[in-house]
Amino acid sequence: TGPLKIAVAGLGTVGAGVLKLLERQADLIEQRCGRRIEVVAVSARSRGKDRGVDLSKAEWYDDPVALAAHPGVDVVVELIGGSEGAAKETVELALERGRHVVTANKALLAHHGTALAAKAEAAGLAIGFEAAVAGGIPIIKGLREGLAANRVSEVHGILNGTCNYILTEMRTTGRDFADVLADAQKLGYAEADPSFDIDGVDAAHKLAILTSVAFGTPVDFKSVHVEGIRHVSAVDFDYADALGYRIKLLGIARRTDHGIEQRVHPCMVPKAAPIAAVDGVFNAVIAQGDFVDRVLFVGRGAGEGPTASAVVADLIDIARGRSTPTFGVPAAQLSEAQPSPMEAR
Ligand code: NAP
Ligand code: HSE
Repeated sequence: TGPLKIAVAGLGTVGAGVLKLLERQADLIEQRCGRRIEVVAVSARSRGKDRGVDLSKAEWYDDPVALAAHPGVDVVVELIGGSEGAAKETVELALERGRHVVTANKALLAHHGTALAAKAEAAGLAIGFEAAVAGGIPIIKGLREGLAANRVSEVHGILNGTCNYILTEMRTTGRDFADVLADAQKLGYAEADPSFDIDGVDAAHKLAILTSVAFGTPVDFKSVHVEGIRHVSAVDFDYADALGYRIKLLGIARRTDHGIEQRVHPCMVPKAAPIAAVDGVFNAVIAQGDFVDRVLFVGRGAGEGPTASAVVADLIDIARGRSTPTFGVPAAQLSEAQPSPMEAR
C-alpha cells in the first residue's frame, strides 16, 4: 500500500505537535503500520507564522474547508477547535468527500458527535477522537476496545488539565488564580477561550463524549450539570486539607434508577484516594465495569506532546485499516438515553 495522505487543518499547539511527531517518529510509524503517513496539505490563519516545523512539502490553504477537498487526501485532521464554523464545516465536507476524519475537538463532538458519527459510518468512514478526551491517556480506546466486554456502571475523573494545574499550583504554592491561568495558557494547556476550562465546560464536553462511549448512548451534552473552579479560593484549600481532603474538579457519569446522571463540579476527594494524588496537568479516569471491576487511567491531560501522541495513534489505526464504531456502538443503534435526573427535575 502507498502512504496514508493526510491534510492538517490547524497548526497551533496540537497541529504543530502532530507535524513534529510525524517527522520524528516517521520510521517507527512506518514499521508499525507498514506504510508512511504523508502530510500533503495544511491550513491555518496566518501563513507567515513560524511554527517550528517544515511546511515546504505540503500545499498551503488559507481556508480549511477548501483543504478538506484537496485531491487524493485519505484523512482530514481537524485541529482548529470550536463547535461551529470552520471546524464543523471542514469535518462535514471531509466526510462528504469520502475522507476519514481525526479530530481533537471535544466541543464539536459534544454538540454534533452523534450526527457526525452517523454520517461517517453510513459512508464507511472513521472519525478518530482519542485526543478529544484526557489528552495523552488512551481513554477512548481503553473504554471502547479494552472494556468492550463490560457493562460500565460509572466513569469519573479529572478531565481538564488546566483546572487541575491551577488547583494544584494554588494549593501547593499559594499563587494567585489569574497568574496560574496565564501560565497554563503559555504552556498550551488552555482552550482558545479559557473560560471553557475554568467554568467546567471543557470537562463537560469530554464527559458527554465519555458517557456515550461508556454507556452506548447518544452524546448528550445539554443534560450535563456544570460548575467550574472560578470561586475556589485559598481558604477552601486550607479547610479541605485540615479535614483530610483535596479539591479536584471532577466529571462524573453514572447509571441511576432514573437514567444516566452527568455532572462536573469541584469535589472534596479524600487524600488517600488514588485520584487525590493526580496533580498538575495530569488527568485521571476511573471506570467501573461489571467483569473487570475498577480501572484507573492516568496521564498528561493537555499539551503538545501528549495530545499529538493521541492524534497520531488514531492516524496509525486508520493506516492499519482498523475500524471500530465511532462511539463503540454503531451510530444507527445508539440506544436512546433515558432522561437524565438533572433534566427531569
Ligand atoms: P490553538 O493553539 O489555538 O490552534 C488553533 C489553530 O487553528 C491555529 O493554527 C489557528 O491558526 C487555526 N485556526 C483557528 N481558527 C481558524 C479558522 N477560522 N480558519 C483556519 N484556521 C484557524 O489550539 P490548540 O490548543 O492546538 O487546540 C486545537 C484543538 O485541539 C481544539 O479543538 C482543542 O480543544 C483541542 N485540544 C487541545 C489540547 C491542548 O492541550 N492544547 C488538548 C486536547 C485537545 P493560526 O495559528 O494561524 O492562528
Ligand atoms: N484545555 C484542555 C485542558 C486541553 O486543559 O484539559 C485538553 O483537552
